[in-house]
Amino acid sequence: MLLCVVGARPNYMKMAPLLRAFRAHPALPRALLVHTGQHYDPMMNGRLFEDLELPRPDINLEVGSATHAVQTAEVMRRFEPVLDEHQPSCVVVVGDVNSTLACSLVAAKKAVPVAHVEAGLRSFDRAMPEEINRVLTDQLCDLLYTTERAAHANLMREGIPAERMHFVGNVMIDSLRSHRSRAVPPRRFASQGSFGVVTLHRPSNVDRPDALAESLDVLRAVAERLPLVCAFHPRTVANLRSFGLADKLAGARLVVLPPQGYLEMLGLMSAATLVLTDSGGMQEETTALAVPCLTMRENTERPITVDQGTNTLVGRDRKRILQLVDEILATGGKRGRTPELWDGHAAERIAEHLSHWLAERPVSAHG
Ligand code: UD1
Repeated sequence: MLLCVVGARPNYMKMAPLLRAFRAHPALPRALLVHTGQHYDPMMNGRLFEDLELPRPDINLEVGSATHAVQTAEVMRRFEPVLDEHQPSCVVVVGDVNSTLACSLVAAKKAVPVAHVEAGLRSFDRAMPEEINRVLTDQLCDLLYTTERAAHANLMREGIPAERMHFVGNVMIDSLRSHRSRAVPPRRFASQGSFGVVTLHRPSNVDRPDALAESLDVLRAVAERLPLVCAFHPRTVANLRSFGLADKLAGARLVVLPPQGYLEMLGLMSAATLVLTDSGGMQEETTALAVPCLTMRENTERPITVDQGTNTLVGRDRKRILQLVDEILATGGKRGRTPELWDGHAAERIAEHLSHWLAERPVSAHG
């Protein structure tokens, strides 16, 4: 049996093509979907499952929100009996959320092999909780499936043997390619002509009043040039209210929407003149869609989106952001090209590799 773990929104678009490929592969054991319950809001969770045609989880751990320590510990506590009961031949984790690390740690200590999909990405910024999750997860995993070649150098630097690493491409782009024809066109904004799409949720941009106020000032200034559609994470909306900053956006040419479904977001991004975000995944999706992306962070764990794609790192540097927005409005901005193996078949490559790897392993206690 394979236990496939998801916990939070950015995991679902990675796991959907994997689960499909695992279940279609004749030589792989049965794949069960485990949801830790880290994200639970309908718009952060159920809706995306529907859009991505992800089957209902076989097991739901229902951990919910808590501090990082409590959330991680709670996933571990609840995942351990699941592992004991099912004795999987492999646990498959994706991305960099707390659930990714928690389940890898439980499995590794029980000598159950773990495969990490989207391994080796590094922002080199340990102030990001995700960076800590990435570094530790990769240390624990037996199979490291990577989306870009730079990941291999990162892993080598951390002393990980090359034979564990496998460059397979990007499963998130598998999802994008297979759902693009069903993307929901943004009717509501079509009348406005061109528009920009915004998402913001990183603690560095939204968890401190001064940082959030600065982010909102940037959005106001951009909105003077281009109307904006902002799809905010619940933490951003909660902070807007609790810091008393909600009226900072009043009167600006922007609309604030709740988190969007996958197909709506795909429709919005595809039709946008530019995307302004601090998301990890959207940096890659905009590169695949050839839409210019201004990333409101000082670093990225996905450098290929800057080197080859449409991404530019801008932090909260208002002057630079406005300059780049003007450039995009005048010239269309960075064109970029699609990175190697972002071809819609990464999940199939992983399924094929995993089936051989499992077949060649000596028989262990785990079935
Ligand atoms: C998590 C991931 C991050 C990912 C993001 C995308 C970690 C460390 N972070 O961050 O990598 O980019 O998801 O969405 O795992 N909340 C809700 N409803 C929900 C879930 C969360 O309101 O369904 C609120 C709660 O107030 C919660 C806060 O968001 O306290 C943070 O949620 P959490 O799961 O800890 O991390 P995210 O910020 O969502």
